Amino acid sequence: KKNVRDVDVKGKKVFVRVDFNVPMQDGEITDDTRIKSALTTIMYLIQKEAKVILASHLGRPGGEVVEELRLDAVAQSLSNYLQQPVYKLDDVFSDEVKEAVEKMENRDVLLLENVRFEPGEKQNDPELAKQFASLADLYVNDAFGTAHRAHASTEGIAHHLPAVSGFLLEKEINVLGNALEDPDRPFTAIIGGSKVKDKIGVIDNLLEKVDHLLIGGGLSFTFIKAMGHEIGDSLLEEDKIDLAKQFIEKAKEKGVSLHLPKDVVMADQFAEDANKKIVPVEEMTAGWQGLDIGPETVQEYAETIKNSQLILWNGPMGVFEMDAFAEGTKGVAEALATTDGYTIIGGGDSASAVEKFNFAEEMNHISTGGGASLEFMEGKVLPGVQALEDEEGVNK
Ligand code: 3PG
Repeated sequence: KKNVRDVDVKGKKVFVRVDFNVPMQDGEITDDTRIKSALTTIMYLIQKEAKVILASHLGRPGGEVVEELRLDAVAQSLSNYLQQPVYKLDDVFSDEVKEAVEKMENRDVLLLENVRFEPGEKQNDPELAKQFASLADLYVNDAFGTAHRAHASTEGIAHHLPAVSGFLLEKEINVLGNALEDPDRPFTAIIGGSKVKDKIGVIDNLLEKVDHLLIGGGLSFTFIKAMGHEIGDSLLEEDKIDLAKQFIEKAKEKGVSLHLPKDVVMADQFAEDANKKIVPVEEMTAGWQGLDIGPETVQEYAETIKNSQLILWNGPMGVFEMDAFAEGTKGVAEALATTDGYTIIGGGDSASAVEKFNFAEEMNHISTGGGASLEFMEGKVLPGVQALEDEEGVNK
């Protein structure tokens, strides 16, 4: 896809879609990774003397104004990083917005209000897309985290302006794309999380690509059940047992070595202070539920990670939010932090885990997309990327 570096931006009004959907608590931003990740493109545009109009969503306000979801705190944080004012507007599109844009000087940065305050955003309303486009000369999409949504500011607008990628979106697509298309081998994927249902597409696609697939988290119990073991009161998706069997078969057909937990940490209740015991998977009993992978499994997974050239991680190995069941996720994170292979952390919970255990600096790439990176790894085309111009400048 064409990138912002390939076009002339000097003196141009550039509409940049970013993903500033950051976690907030009591009006404070609790993790500003997504703001920091957008700085490369924003600073580049300032340096090239463009007029920078930023747009983002925050949360899911459902097409109406929700006071707590205004972008003022985001504008403040961004302004601190840029060390220049960020003119925050209180509307998404209005006469005031048009006037403010008209008055912009080169190098100015302006931030529109939460685009999801407009119902037309999620509906990908062509009218709203045209209104956004009318503000600018060029569209830059740097919102990788929202690239799986076909909304007015992520997809619709691209049909009304020259449309190119920002540096963050480009990097995400390149890193994840190369991993799927031309991986260094051995290529290992680690898939965890609570439900098989959420990972069907990604497991199916990765079984076509990887050498090793390591399974952990709540979803592993449906696989363990499919292997014919008792799982006690652990999380089970009854209707996914057959699918798990098919995945086990597919792994054999494709020559993928599929690893399931050998031992698990069981608890007598879902609580931090539960009684717990470590048991081999063959010895799970009723009255107990598995909440983490056991130490023998961690060791085996760590060894596989160490011997891989490329490792992709999506989904925690246990209930890592509780210290009592965090060891498996921490052990895997540590193995990733110390391997010589190239490490990619699919966003969402695995990214939070890496942050929590202070291994973020050691990873090669931490995706800023949760749902977006998952859909990308499923092999889906992301509408926000699809709509951008290709190298020849054709709008798809
Ligand atoms: C995310 O946090 O995954 C993105 O910002 C997209 O948000 P959404 O799931 O509300 O569309």
